[in-house]
Amino acid sequence: MSSPSSAARVAAPDTLTLTRPDDWHLHVRDGAALASVLPHTARQFARAIVMPNLRPPVTTTAQALAYRERILAARPAAGEPGADFQPLMTLYLTDNTPAEEIAHAKAAGIVALKLYPAGATTNSDAGVTDIRRTYATLEAMQREGVLLLVHGEVTDPAVDLFDREAVFIEQVMQPLRRDFPELKVVFEHITTREAAQYVAGAGPHTAATITAHHLLYNRNAIFQGGLRPHCYCLPVLKREQHRQALLAAVASGSDRFFLGTDSAPHAAVMKEASVCGAGCFTAPAALELYAEAFESVGALDKLDAFASAHGPAFYGLPRNTGTVTLRREPWALPESLPFAEDAAIKPLRGGEILPWRLVD
Ligand code: NCD
Ligand code: ZN
Repeated sequence: MSSPSSAARVAAPDTLTLTRPDDWHLHVRDGAALASVLPHTARQFARAIVMPNLRPPVTTTAQALAYRERILAARPAAGEPGADFQPLMTLYLTDNTPAEEIAHAKAAGIVALKLYPAGATTNSDAGVTDIRRTYATLEAMQREGVLLLVHGEVTDPAVDLFDREAVFIEQVMQPLRRDFPELKVVFEHITTREAAQYVAGAGPHTAATITAHHLLYNRNAIFQGGLRPHCYCLPVLKREQHRQALLAAVASGSDRFFLGTDSAPHAAVMKEASVCGAGCFTAPAALELYAEAFESVGALDKLDAFASAHGPAFYGLPRNTGTVTLRREPWALPESLPFAEDAAIKPLRGGEILPWRLVD
C-alpha cells in the first residue's frame, strides 16, 4: 500500500506546498545592510532566529529589543508578502553574561543565547574563552527554559580546521550535556558525520540546524577551477562523506534536525578580497536550494516537517499557519543584488539556473 509520501517520491511532483516555514539560524546585520537583506528572508519565512554577532555584539536584553525594532522597521510594507515576518531574538553569550540577565531576557521574549567560542568565526572576538565561566548563566537558562545555540568548533590552532567540529563534540558538547542534561541545546549548522551521529543519539534536548549549502556542496566547491570565495563559510564545507551523512540525517525524517540557513551576508568586495570573510548568502533562494538538496536523495516528502514542524516543536513554539508553494520552474538567480549603500552582494548560486522556484 502506498502512503502519500512514497507516492510523492515516485511521482516527482512539480508543485510542493509547505506549511509556512521558519529559518532557525540567520544573520541579517544592521543599518543599510539589514534593509537590503531582510526582505529576502521575510518573503520566504514567517520567523527567523536572528544571530546576535553584530559589532558590538547583542549581549543585553535592552540591546536585543532595540535590534528587534530595527528589524521590524526593515520588513516589507504592510500588504506586501513578508510584512508580518517575526524575528526571534537571541543574546550573545560572553564570559561575563550575568545569570540575572536570563530572567529579564525570558520575560522580554528572548528565546536563546548563542555560544561562540572566542575567535571561531565572523565577529566572535567577544565569545566565550572557557565554557566553565558561563556555568552560572547556563544554570539559569536551564531553569528558565532559554535555549543554548552553539557554534560547535574548537578554536585551538593546533587542531586542523576540518576537524574542529568533531573535536568540539568531545571537548565541549559531551561535558555540557552531562552537566546540564535539561538544557535545550541546538548544535548549529552541523557539517560532519560525527555531529549528525552525535545529535541523533543525544536525547530529546539536543537538536541541530543544517544549512542548504552544506547539503548541496562538499569542500571541492571551494576550489572548483580557482578559489571560490562565495563558497567559503564557517564551519567550512567538508568532505563528500560528511555531506552524505547530513543528507541521510534529513532524509531520515528525524525531528532532531531542522532548517537553519546560516545566510551570512557580506558585500561582494569583502568576499572577493585578499582576506575573504566567512559566510554564504543564501536568503534569496533558501527554500529553492533546500528543495533541490532534498530531491537529490528522494526526500522531498521530508522537507515540510524539516522546514516547518521540527523547529517549532523543539523551541516550544506554535507552528505557523498558511502555506508557501514551490514550483518546478527553472529560473536564473541574479548574479548580484543591491546591498547596503551602493554595494553589491553575490548570492550563492547567483547567475545559475535553479530547478525550483518559490511562487509569491
Ligand atoms: C557568519 C557571519 O558572517 O556572521 N559566517 C559564517 O560563515 N557562517 C558567522 C557564523 O555563523 O559562523
Ligand atoms: Zn551563523
